[in-house]
Amino acid sequence: MNRDERMKLMLIIGARPQIIKSAPIIHEAQKRKEIVFQLVHTGQHYDFEMSKIFFGELDLPDPVVNLGVGSGTHAFQTGKMMIELEKTIENLKPDMVMVPGDTNSTLAGALTAVKLQVPVSHVEAGARSYDMRMPEEVNRRLTDHCSTLLFASTRNCVEKLREEGIEKQQIKLSGDTMYDALLEHIGRSEKTGILKKMNLQSEEYAVLTLHRPENVDIPERLERIFKALASLRNLLIVFPVHPRTRQRLESLKIMQQKAAVEHIKLVEPLGYHEMLQLTKHAKMIFTDSGGLQKEAFWLHTPCITLRDTTEWTETIALGANVLVGSNPQKIIRAAEKIMKTKKGKARLQKLKNPFGDGHASKKILDFILKRG
Ligand code: UD1
Repeated sequence: MNRDERMKLMLIIGARPQIIKSAPIIHEAQKRKEIVFQLVHTGQHYDFEMSKIFFGELDLPDPVVNLGVGSGTHAFQTGKMMIELEKTIENLKPDMVMVPGDTNSTLAGALTAVKLQVPVSHVEAGARSYDMRMPEEVNRRLTDHCSTLLFASTRNCVEKLREEGIEKQQIKLSGDTMYDALLEHIGRSEKTGILKKMNLQSEEYAVLTLHRPENVDIPERLERIFKALASLRNLLIVFPVHPRTRQRLESLKIMQQKAAVEHIKLVEPLGYHEMLQLTKHAKMIFTDSGGLQKEAFWLHTPCITLRDTTEWTETIALGANVLVGSNPQKIIRAAEKIMKTKKGKARLQKLKNPFGDGHASKKILDFILKRG
């Protein structure tokens, strides 16, 4: 093949979950002779444990450019990314820009590309919580509507896109690339020895993650959630703390009432392999993350979602996940029910997986080369 005939594919990432869900796509793109691959990092996440660690664990190449945008208000962060991305796209002249997920980096990438008349492909298209107060819902809806090709994780996501008037030919039911990543890395995650390091016994602890603005930026909600978790004294809860949450907990002095929360063990954000292993062996997961709801499902660990809505309604319909918002009674009731159940994991193992067959990345690249 003539070098000039190859397709220049630019993938834009910026935040922790995007690195994970992109890893299988990056590896697949690197295998394709028809593709010149360009990886761009916006720098939305910049701490070692929020970004760099995953490049090592997932064997990823260095980005061709890191825009170093960092934190800021939504408009500032998204605007600054767009200004920098415009220069990058003009310099590197991609034939297509790919954006995964629903972060500010996703929206900035999609908007900048479409305004430069570069076709956009969106990975994880059609996920909907129908809650426009969530920045992620705004990001994914707008991104879907300026994309040329849309890759859906589930049949439900395809239906949502069709309901919003997106043409059938633009949509590909690919399955979820986070599932591809999990299948590839679960073996390696066994070697982390994280349970031993943390002195944990399988199914005798829970994992908690919390970072969404609708929880951590509203003091009453954050306090309600911790009040409920603090009352679950018989349950050891491992809590890898997101930087946003650490700032809020410190300013509200929530974890300072030590005696009440001795069973909640705060740790730094973990690597991907350690997190997979902790999730697999946990009795239950408390989370407001989108990605962790799916990982809990794949690893057959019951999930309690600390939100009022979720974009992964499939997991709720299958009885693997329950929405409790920040309501203390609901949180406690859901946890106690799981604590009493002996065969929670065995039941989840029997469920049908609506998120594809673990070959989403291959399907995405095939479709792009056929249609791009
Ligand atoms: C972002 C995404 C969210 C995703 C999450 C995963 C948006 C709107 N949200 O939220 O969809 O689930 O990432 O983590 O894009 N911070 C650090 N160090 C870092 C990164 C962030 O200290 O490496 C601090 C910043 O100072 C900032 C706060 O954390 O105040 C939040 O960072 P932000 O980029 O707004 O996104 P997340 O809350 O992480």
